[in-house]
Amino acid sequence: MSHIRGRFHKKAGELVTEYTASIPFDWRLYRHDIGGSVAHARMLAKQGIISQEEAEIITQGLAAIGEEIDQGKFQFKPELEDIHMNIEARLIEKVGEVGGKLHTARSRNDQVALDLRLFAKEAIAETLVKLRDFQQALINLAEANKGVVMPGYTHLQPAQPVLLAHHLLAYFEMLQRDIDRFGDCLKRTDVMPLGSGAIGGVAYSIDRDFLARELGFSRVSQNSIDAVSDRDFVVEYEAAASLCMMHLSRLAEEIILWSSAEFDFIELDEAYATGSSIMPQKKNPDVAELVRGKTGRVYGKLMALLTTMKALPLSYNRDMQEDKEGFFDTVDTLLSTLEVFTGMVKTLRVKAENMGLRVKQGYILATDLADYLVKKGESFRTAHNIVARLVSYAAEKGKSFSEISLAEYKEFSSLFEEDIYSVNAESSIAARDVIGGTAPGQVDRALAAAKKIIGDFRGGK
Ligand code: ARG
Repeated sequence: MSHIRGRFHKKAGELVTEYTASIPFDWRLYRHDIGGSVAHARMLAKQGIISQEEAEIITQGLAAIGEEIDQGKFQFKPELEDIHMNIEARLIEKVGEVGGKLHTARSRNDQVALDLRLFAKEAIAETLVKLRDFQQALINLAEANKGVVMPGYTHLQPAQPVLLAHHLLAYFEMLQRDIDRFGDCLKRTDVMPLGSGAIGGVAYSIDRDFLARELGFSRVSQNSIDAVSDRDFVVEYEAAASLCMMHLSRLAEEIILWSSAEFDFIELDEAYATGSSIMPQKKNPDVAELVRGKTGRVYGKLMALLTTMKALPLSYNRDMQEDKEGFFDTVDTLLSTLEVFTGMVKTLRVKAENMGLRVKQGYILATDLADYLVKKGESFRTAHNIVARLVSYAAEKGKSFSEISLAEYKEFSSLFEEDIYSVNAESSIAARDVIGGTAPGQVDRALAAAKKIIGDFRGGK
């Protein structure tokens, strides 16, 4: 803080310096900070607030500082508090007094708001690409296992047979809504705050639209007080990330279940599982477990920021420095989770035979038997009761539906005929031929629609 402690007589104590510094984490904004400063210097020169030569010296100095940081040669100083003052102090050291003109018509309050928005826009773009990659992996897995039948569950009890592809495309839909949410968040992040100054705007004739164009923003902020105190866009990213992690954690949980000896529906590639240090038979789904585990961490950052922002008086308050670590951690966690999880989905092996066997056990076709009676004129409620009694009879006798004789069937309803034996998993699936249903034709349509969405994204639409 040395060079702006003009009105203070004592040096900040070391502990206080450490306690208040953000440089240990906000150094990460250096590219955004330098980019913002270069645009600001150009704008100041264009408006005649500084000379062209001065702007030239400043922008060259900034570029050189960027390289120093890139190459790990820059000495970050905690006593200079944050990335903004570290760079400014180094600029003055390099180019002399003229470096001190860069901060004309600017405050760290609008500067940090700008840096964070630039960072957030990049983070959203990367998140969208990774979400698309994940969707692509889901599509590929669904296509490679197009005809595979599995038990669909409710209450984690076998409910009705479904196509595995249909189950996987459920996650495509969830991620599609996540993509919408991040895209929506981008609209409100894409606002240029520079020119707000410390709180009330700046006392120079600056060109905010020029700044917005230079920095790739679609709009400029409309209220300086709001612009320096708003962190909604960070909250929105963290909220969208929380929802996305919730979705990913559900698939992670299914992968954990499916790879267990009890289900044995899939086999994870060795690269995504680990052995136990004492139990040689084990192949643990650690990656999926950590996806599930890290979800809690992402929720925590959202709650932390909401709590930090709650009841803060306008406008900027130092509390807001607490926005960054949680945000960075959320972005890092979500991006790495998406990347690792995509790899896991790409390499897992589906054990179609085991899924198929599981569909044959139990009374998963009970709904279809009820539907059979309804189609022969029974009311659904009565049909449901008949099949419920039939299930309990069959269970008592230890028989599956196909092992029950027609005479036995007829004890329950005279509507049962020989064709009851043609009710099977395939006919059950084929019957659910409604939009959004699991019938093969419907799933083919859904797959084609999903592929078109991905294709449009890759084609830049
Ligand atoms: N390090 C500060 C932050 O991250 C930068 C803005 C500081 N502004 C101020 N007036 N102290 O929020």
